[in-house]
Amino acid sequence: MDRNRKRALGAAGAGALAVVVAVGIASAADAAASTLHAAAAEKGRYFGTAVAAYKLSDSVYSTILDREFGMVTPENEMKWDATEPSQGSFSYGSADQIVAHAQAHGQRVRGHALAWHQQQPGWAQNLSGTALRNAMVNHVTQVATHYKGKIYAWDVVNEAFADGGGGGRRDSSLQRTGNDWIEVAFRAARAADPAAKLCYNDYNTDGQNAKSNAVYAMVSDFKARGVPIDCVGFQSHFNSASPVPSDYQANLQRFADLGLDVQITELDIEGSGSAQADNYRRVTEACLAVSRCTGMTVWGIRDSDSWRASGTPLLFDGNGNKKAAYTSTLTALGGGGPTSSPPSSPPVSSSSPPVPSGGCTATASVNQWQGGFVVAVRVTAGSGGTNAWTVTMPLPSGITVTNSWSVTRNGNTFTNVSYNGHINPGQYTEFGLQATGTAGTLTPTCAAS
Ligand code: G3I
Repeated sequence: MDRNRKRALGAAGAGALAVVVAVGIASAADAAASTLHAAAAEKGRYFGTAVAAYKLSDSVYSTILDREFGMVTPENEMKWDATEPSQGSFSYGSADQIVAHAQAHGQRVRGHALAWHQQQPGWAQNLSGTALRNAMVNHVTQVATHYKGKIYAWDVVNEAFADGGGGGRRDSSLQRTGNDWIEVAFRAARAADPAAKLCYNDYNTDGQNAKSNAVYAMVSDFKARGVPIDCVGFQSHFNSASPVPSDYQANLQRFADLGLDVQITELDIEGSGSAQADNYRRVTEACLAVSRCTGMTVWGIRDSDSWRASGTPLLFDGNGNKKAAYTSTLTALGGGGPTSSPPSSPPVSSSSPPVPSGGCTATASVNQWQGGFVVAVRVTAGSGGTNAWTVTMPLPSGITVTNSWSVTRNGNTFTNVSYNGHINPGQYTEFGLQATGTAGTLTPTCAAS
């Protein structure tokens, strides 16, 4: 069990009912989650970071990564130049390394990015028209197929809209293949990996402005015409010239109201001290206030890992120490300290049975498509909260589970992983699995300790 969620359970005298009750209530009032991902998970969100494959061997880096984060985005390793360095010849070594690390540590993966005007290999830069369009579609299909079942969400198209007041598409060789190139990319991604959420991702769209209005119009049109899109990513690279917009939450909300998930995908905020901490707090609170804001990702771990390191925009300093911005983010997520004060004296037992310190319920929601499905299971703690939980969910015969996340699976038995065993009373966490075949009706039952 995560040492941050270990409980001091040893003091209970087995015979005394009043003492047992006291322990149960003390558990409920125990320290809040003490890592970013654990705190976010208690709010039904993920907390992620961009990861560079070559840094995984740095123990300071990987220790923070595995302690604090439940979602990873390869910072460069899944881009077109990295994955298809020569046409038709695919190279997945570094990206596979990140995915393997994530799977070994119960983390999920945001794929970044299938189609983008930057970071194209030289051969693609030399293409145009139909040849480029076909190469792009093949690239999307091949990469999404390679990672099928392993990606929580793909940034299918990145940064396709122009800056400034024009409110139109960015000129690029991809754009010049025809205005429908974005929806073609989304359809190819859906065909290749039906279970991955498909996102459009961009920067300077964090508040309402001409650029975000143009994205909003495209997404509205996609929803109206049935183009497969599940989410919009808001990169959220902020500094004094590009501060957190005052309408940040409202902008997230208006996209969510289109029937999409929204995600904060590349958060970094230049600055230091309390001003930076306050901006991180605002961003975190905005995501929590939008029910379809499913999670947030910072664009690197330590300041020294950042693409703009001189701006010290991240949550850990160059030595891996937590900054004020870390604390404000964790606090905004509801973590970091006691959620309520323990009782000042042991409660008096009554004739009615005490509220059990364990207890949980589980519900499953299934997204079924031709030949496969994804199940999201929500585990909600009873009045005593949980230290650990086990869900039993009979699965139909004939299916094959291809992937699961945020859980340890043994047949039909699903047990919490290190960061989500602790659930405060009435709060919930979620885990999931993907399988081939037909789910039918799934009826999970939950036991907690
Ligand atoms: O790995 C080579 C190294 O071998 C070489 O010596 C060095 C010389 O420049 O370059 C290294 O590659 C660099 C790579 O980062 C890894 O550090 C590339 O030149 C550099 O262009 C690349 O920059 C990345 C940038 O995207 C590329 O567009 C940044 O790391 C990455 O943080 C940044 O991320 C983007 C998102 O994908 C999209 N949104 C904006 C965000 C920030 O720019």
